[in-house]
Amino acid sequence: MLKIGVLASGRGSNFQAVLDAIKAGKIKSEIKVLISDKANAFALERAKQNGIEALHISAKAFPSMDEYFVAVAEELKKRDIGLVLLAGFMRIVRRPLLDAFPWKVMNIHPALLPSFPGLHGQQQAVDYGARISGCTVHFVDAGMDTGPVIIQAAVACNADDTEDTLSERILKYEHIIYPEAVRLFAEGRLDVKGRKVFIKDSRPYPTDAIINPPVE
Ligand code: GAR
Repeated sequence: MLKIGVLASGRGSNFQAVLDAIKAGKIKSEIKVLISDKANAFALERAKQNGIEALHISAKAFPSMDEYFVAVAEELKKRDIGLVLLAGFMRIVRRPLLDAFPWKVMNIHPALLPSFPGLHGQQQAVDYGARISGCTVHFVDAGMDTGPVIIQAAVACNADDTEDTLSERILKYEHIIYPEAVRLFAEGRLDVKGRKVFIKDSRPYPTDAIINPPVE
C-alpha cells in the first residue's frame, strides 16, 4: 500500500482533508509521517491527535537549504514513502528532495496556475481584480509553482472580495481536489509526459466543469 509523507508549515487543513479521505476508505494509502519546518505548526498537533508520527525539522539546523532537503529526503526514504505531499509548506523544494522522489512530490496552490504563483495567491487575485480564481494540484518541479498540473478547480471572485473571503471560498475546493489527486496517484492513474499529466480511465470533461477534469 502507498505510504505518504506530508510536509506542512501551518494549520494543516489540507493534510486533514487527505487524512479524512483515507479514513473514509476513498484512498487506499497510509500517511506515515508529517514533517514540519515550524515547531508550532498546528499540523504537528493534528498528526499526533491522529496517531501519525510528527517530526519537526528546522531549516535553521542546516548550513544550506540543499542540506535541509537531503535530511528531509532521508527521513522520508527511511519510512519507504512513495508520495510526498506539500500541504501549506511554505518553502521552495530543492533538488535533493525532488531527485529522490521524481514526479512523486505534489503541491496544492491557492490560485489557477500559471496565474498568481508564490505567496498569497488569493491576495494576488484580489489585487489584480480577477473574476475567476481557484486552486491547482500539481507535481512539483524545481521552479516555483511551475510543475505539471493534475487537477484545478475554479471559483468566482467578486469585486468586494478580500484575501480572507476568497481564501475561504478557494479552500473548500482545495479540500476536494487534493484528496482526489492523491486518490488518482494511489490508483496508479497519473502519467507525466512532458509538462502534461494524463489521467488513465478518466471521463472526458464537460466544458462547464468547475473541477477540471471531473473526478469520479
Ligand atoms: C492553503 O491555502 C494552500 O493552498 C496554501 O497555504 C494554505 C495552507 O493551508 N499554500 C500555498 O500558498 C503554497 N504556496 P493548510 O495548512 O490549512 O492546508
